[in-house]
Amino acid sequence: MEYYENIVKKRNSCRSFSDRKVDDDVLNEILMYYEDEESDLVDDISTEIRFYIGTVWDKLKKSVGYNGVCIKAPMYMVLYSDKADHYLENAGYIAQGITLKMTELGLAACWMTINDAEEVTEALGEDTDKIVSCVVAFGYRAEDNDEKKAPKKSLDEMTDGRKFGKDIDTDVFYSEIEDGLRAIAHAQSFQNLQPYRIIVDDDQISLVGLPDDMTNDNDRHLNYGIVMFNFYAVMDAVRANTPKWSFEPADRDLGLPADVEYVAKCRI
Ligand SMILES: Cc1cc2nc3c(=O)[nH]c(=O)nc-3n(C[C@H](O)[C@H](O)[C@H](O)COP(=O)(O)O)c2cc1C
Repeated sequence: MEYYENIVKKRNSCRSFSDRKVDDDVLNEILMYYEDEESDLVDDISTEIRFYIGTVWDKLKKSVGYNGVCIKAPMYMVLYSDKADHYLENAGYIAQGITLKMTELGLAACWMTINDAEEVTEALGEDTDKIVSCVVAFGYRAEDNDEKKAPKKSLDEMTDGRKFGKDIDTDVFYSEIEDGLRAIAHAQSFQNLQPYRIIVDDDQISLVGLPDDMTNDNDRHLNYGIVMFNFYAVMDAVRANTPKWSFEPADRDLGLPADVEYVAKCRI
């Protein structure tokens, strides 16, 4: 409850930052979280995070940011990853954990769409075999910035019971996982489109992707990772045996229309 109320619900995107510097000890706390506490979605995918000061904006702006706008920020966090099955979901999952850690540390952040990953690597002058998978602008919110969290889908809109499109019996399903599901409904997504839904069953939840012409492939997979982390983090805060997401195929008929894709499941 506390993690959901104090962190997940408070995390909203920031597009106007103050000039306040992010001190090295704060950056170190983020690094320590990434190295020691961070949970991966997929084992064995090697990742690396690097921080860049805001002057790289000039170099990033050509290849980062939707609608041709790269948000100006005092710092950028870039997550590099090996390329493997589900590496983008894994990267989104890890980076979402970091942005929620930033919220905990009083920082504000904004996910940035990557328009050309190779161009980003080149612009930053990096020589790496890994691929740029996430870019996050961060720093302290400007004092006059009253940006609000974007309105989110309700729990009803986000969840179905047993099969796609079927109403859910909230009394039966929600009690233990309600905050986890709310954290999914509050997750960041490209242009806040939230093109996914959760099908809840007695023993598991399934994440499915809705048709959406706006979100590119990269951001679609990052969206999924972000959602999965939000659920995991909230459940982890209240349970000893935290449920883990799996990309194994669906083991039941979810009644999905042809244009809805099954993504992953999580035993509850
Ligand atoms: C994969 C991804 C890419 C995004 N790209 C951008 C971007 O390029 N520019 C931007 O201003 N916001 C970007 N966002 C932020 C979303 O627009 C934002 O999360 C959404 O509107 C919800 O608002 P909230 O974060 O306040 O809940 C991105 C978010 C995600 C998850």
